Amino acid sequence: MNAKVIDGKAFAATVRARVAEHVAANAAHGQPGLAVVLVGDDPASDVYVRSKGRMTREVGMASVKHRLSAETSEADLLKLIDDLNNDDSIHGILVQLPLPGHLNEDLVINSIDPAKDVDGFHTSNVGLLGTGQKSMVPCTPLGCLLMLKDHHGSLSGLNAVVIGRSNIVGKPMAQMLLKESCTVTVAHSRTRNIAEVVKRAEIVVAAVGRPEMVTGDWIKPGATVIDVGINRINETVKGGGKTSLVGDCHYDSCAEVAGAITPVPGGVGPMTIACLLLNTLNAFCDQKG
Ligand code: GUN
Repeated sequence: MNAKVIDGKAFAATVRARVAEHVAANAAHGQPGLAVVLVGDDPASDVYVRSKGRMTREVGMASVKHRLSAETSEADLLKLIDDLNNDDSIHGILVQLPLPGHLNEDLVINSIDPAKDVDGFHTSNVGLLGTGQKSMVPCTPLGCLLMLKDHHGSLSGLNAVVIGRSNIVGKPMAQMLLKESCTVTVAHSRTRNIAEVVKRAEIVVAAVGRPEMVTGDWIKPGATVIDVGINRINETVKGGGKTSLVGDCHYDSCAEVAGAITPVPGGVGPMTIACLLLNTLNAFCDQKG
């Protein structure tokens, strides 16, 4: 293996420590509060929400969890969000996605006060990012960007390929890299000759949700590979099966060619929650003026 391993777990710990220092230093102005709303009982969402709550408390912020039944009506959910919008002790609101099918996700997200939208999913924050203005930005691409800037310094002029066009990762990642003056290509399931497209990139961000899709022969020698994927796969091993986590990139073959790479787990994942805390701190500071 030749690539430098970008340690997202360690980097996230330093980001959280910096956030904790700021929270303590600003205690005279109040305590930042983050409300997390979970509708239904999706087990994966439950795990994420519990670790978000624990880390929020660890940096000295108030963590408020609202767990609603899967049958909650849209009107009741909108009423809760309205109450949180008007609650001065709450500076950030996160509605865990996906929502049960009977709830209109766009409507729910757009009912959050954009100043408290620590996910950066509100249409007004999306528009601000797209026009290069200051905004709340989604946590996962922000985590990727912080790691890229830490590794490269300036990203100006670099060729970046983002694989995946989701609203949560792919599209905002492309906008953020454009803002850093990268030359950005967004590749997706309909992209022709995707391996050739990816091979032109000095920065590859893979966010497609397909286990080990990107292999070493797609990677330009020396490129930086950021793997957003977290895929649970069942492996057959001697004497039975086991579940393991893999990214969207085939780690061993990509690490042979890349200059730097994020592992799964321990890469992008921990940075996402650290960036949620960073966004909550920024929301608190903005709301305190
Ligand atoms: N579900 C998966 N990722 C996310 C995220 O970043 N924010 C929210 N609100 N829900 C998610």
